[in-house]
Amino acid sequence: MEQVCLRRIHNENSQDIESYMAHDGYAALRKALTEMTPSAVHDEVRAANMGGRGGAGFPTAMKWNFLVGARGEPKYVLCNFDESEPGTFSNRVIGEEDPHLLVEGCLLAAYATGCSIIFIYIRGEYFLAYERVKHAIEQAYERGLIGKNILGTDFSVELYLRRGAGAYIVGEETAIMNSLEGKRGYPRARPPFPANEGLFGKPTLINNVETLSNLSDIVLNGGERWSNLGVNEGSGLNVYCVSGHVERPGVYELPMGTTARELIYEHAGGVWQGRTLKAWKPGGASSAILPADMIDLVLDFKPVQAAGTILGTAGVIVMDDHSCVVDAAIRDATFFEEESCGFCFPCRDGTRVLRMLVERVRHGVAAPDTIDLIEHASTDMMGASFCGLGQFAPWPVVSTVRNFRQEYDAHIIEKVCPAGVCPMDGTEPNEHVDRRTLQEMLVAQKGGVLA
Ligand SMILES: Cc1cc2nc3c(=O)[nH]c(=O)nc-3n(C[C@H](O)[C@H](O)[C@H](O)COP(=O)(O)O)c2cc1C
Repeated sequence: MEQVCLRRIHNENSQDIESYMAHDGYAALRKALTEMTPSAVHDEVRAANMGGRGGAGFPTAMKWNFLVGARGEPKYVLCNFDESEPGTFSNRVIGEEDPHLLVEGCLLAAYATGCSIIFIYIRGEYFLAYERVKHAIEQAYERGLIGKNILGTDFSVELYLRRGAGAYIVGEETAIMNSLEGKRGYPRARPPFPANEGLFGKPTLINNVETLSNLSDIVLNGGERWSNLGVNEGSGLNVYCVSGHVERPGVYELPMGTTARELIYEHAGGVWQGRTLKAWKPGGASSAILPADMIDLVLDFKPVQAAGTILGTAGVIVMDDHSCVVDAAIRDATFFEEESCGFCFPCRDGTRVLRMLVERVRHGVAAPDTIDLIEHASTDMMGASFCGLGQFAPWPVVSTVRNFRQEYDAHIIEKVCPAGVCPMDGTEPNEHVDRRTLQEMLVAQKGGVLA
């Protein structure tokens, strides 16, 4: 099966420039700089019809358009290598095993959009990827592939690698810019959009590692060919990460539009230990959970959205029939509570309230109106949170309620965990949450005072 991002990862010394160049490495850069204008590179990306791989699927060529028309110098490329979404590790594999692919992609994006400074911002916990990308940058500088007059042309660009401290929020495109500027990693209001006023107030293109890593193939072999690699109306290839209860968890680069059934059963070896599928998620922890009977869903941005969830990072998480959805919800709720940056309180308080409510369900002490409270808090968080973290954080909880209502009823009304996973010990969590706690949160959110 054809591969682009993972094509070289099993080669000997795949992270080294010699190995990379022996397998077409930097041929796309040479072609772009010596045979193509920046707008010709842009045309190929347009023909590829690629949706960004950072989560939202925003059309890459359209995002590049904004940069081309933006005023201000210098212009920056910012490569988002934060990758903190649980269940997602495709960027890490590229950074560790084929860092030159990413470096070349960054250079192509800079050339096409007229940027002269590139930052790669990498997640703090990615130690090996950091070392390998750093080494790749040094090697590319030594070979004259980064710096002044690259390959003897007029094109010059500098590339800097910066390390985060390991916070989920700085994957958000405006928070990452604040972090890079030495400020606290809080999100910024938009507008102004990064393409007009981004890093240090200058036009900035923000793309994901996988998005950028597809560019060398698109430039070398043509955007249309890349687009045609997809199936079921999908464009190109996609690196799906599979984790959870499967025989062969890992990264699988497959056509965009592959069904979940094919990914899970044919490539990832099916549900482990001969068990049956209970539920799965298409786009990492923050995506809504789906029941087993939606296994034939086509994995592409639009069909997944039509099914009430998101493809996001294509981090597919599989749960077998021994799992409990309430137990799954508490893990995600705890993660998002810990990762909320606290900048806006619908997210800061909402993630806490949701975690506390699910905690009570797990212990068999939830009040009968708990499901209403979860729905209420989730709806408010989705509508009122400042950035995507708070807007998506309720989904792991509220989608388990909506798609597995009978399990919540068993925990709340019958006081049993059907899977036998939750403690159900009747202990009251130390923290208190009731309708008044929630009302206080909602009233404060509207700027009012609770009578
Ligand atoms: C809370 C939050 C975390 C995010 N984390 C990442 C991340 O780790 N990596 C990433 O590429 N995009 C992340 N995104 C999406 C980015 O804001 C942005 O849309 C993306 O980097 C754009 O790249 P693309 O156009 O290549 O998809 C995150 C968004 C939110 C709301």
